[in-house]
Amino acid sequence: MKRLDGRTALITGAARGIGLAFAKAYVAEGAQVAIADIDIERARTAAAEIGAVAVEMDVTRQDSIDAGVAEAIARLGHIDILVNNAAIFTAAPIVEIERADYDRCFAINVAGTLFTMQAVARHMVERGKGGRIINMASQAGRRGEPLVAVYCATKAAVISLTQSAGLNLVRHGINVNAIAPGVVDGEHWDGVDAFFAKYEGKAPGQKKKEVGEAVPFGRMGRAEDLTGMAVFLASDEAAYIVAQCYNVDGGQWMS
Ligand SMILES: NC(=O)c1ccc[n+]([C@@H]2O[C@H](COP(=O)([O-])OP(=O)(O)OC[C@H]3O[C@@H](n4cnc5c(N)ncnc54)[C@H](O)[C@@H]3O)[C@@H](O)[C@H]2O)c1
Repeated sequence: MKRLDGRTALITGAARGIGLAFAKAYVAEGAQVAIADIDIERARTAAAEIGAVAVEMDVTRQDSIDAGVAEAIARLGHIDILVNNAAIFTAAPIVEIERADYDRCFAINVAGTLFTMQAVARHMVERGKGGRIINMASQAGRRGEPLVAVYCATKAAVISLTQSAGLNLVRHGINVNAIAPGVVDGEHWDGVDAFFAKYEGKAPGQKKKEVGEAVPFGRMGRAEDLTGMAVFLASDEAAYIVAQCYNVDGGQWMS
C-alpha cells in the first residue's frame, strides 16, 4: 500500500523544478496527478514522462483557473490534493521597483494562490470528502531582504493566506498548510542569481555559491529534498496538521 494510493492531485507550476519533483513523488506514491502550467508544451512533455496528465493554466486569469480546475476534475474524476506551487521571483532596490513588476508578482504568487485555492476548495466542499491544500511559501516570507521586497511580501502573504484558509476550511475536512523552502537549485535560482549579478555586481554563479555555503546543511537544496514534506502533508499521517508553514531549508530559518 502506497501513501497516496487512490488519491488525485493538481499541482500548479509543475512543468519543471520543485512542482515537477512533487508530481513525480506523488505518482510514485500511487496518486494520479495533473500538472497545471502556463507552459503547456513543457507540462505535456513532463506529464508524458512521469505518467501524469497536463492541464493548461495561467493562475493570473480567473477563466483559466476555472477551466484548468474543471479539466483536472474531468480527467482525474475529482481532486483530493492541491499544491499551489506556481510563482515567479523578482528583485530590485526599493527606489527601482516598477509597478508592473509588483502587479505581476502579486497576481501570480498571491492572487493565483488564493483563487486556485478557492476554485479547488469549492469543489472539495461540494464533494464533501475533505482534501489537502499545500501552498508554496518561502524563507523569503519569514523576513525581508534588501533587494527582494516584492517577492518577500508575496510569500509573507502566502503564509498568512495559509493560516486564514486553514482555519476557515478545517470544518470541511480540508487541511491547508504550507512549505517554506530555503534556496533550491534549478532554473528558478538561475534567474535569482542573474538578479544578484545585476544589482550586486557578482559574477554569474557567485551568489549561488555563497548562498549554498551559508546553508547550515552545507549546500543548496535540491527539489527532491522537499518531496518528503509534500508527500507527508498530503498523506493520512498529517490529518491533525492545520494552518502551519514548515521550513524545509537545511537549517536556515527557525520559527
Ligand atoms: N527554488 C527556490 O529556491 C525556492 C525557494 C523558496 C520557495 N520557492 C517556491 O517554490 C515554488 C516552485 O519553485 P521552483 O524553483 O520550482 O520555480 P520554477 O521557476 O522553476 O517553476 C515555476 C513554474 O511555474 C510556472 N508558472 C509561472 N507563471 C505561471 C502562471 N501564471 N500560471 C501557471 N504557471 C506558471 C512556470 O512555467 C514554471 O513551470 C515557487 O512557489 C517558489 O516561489 C522556491
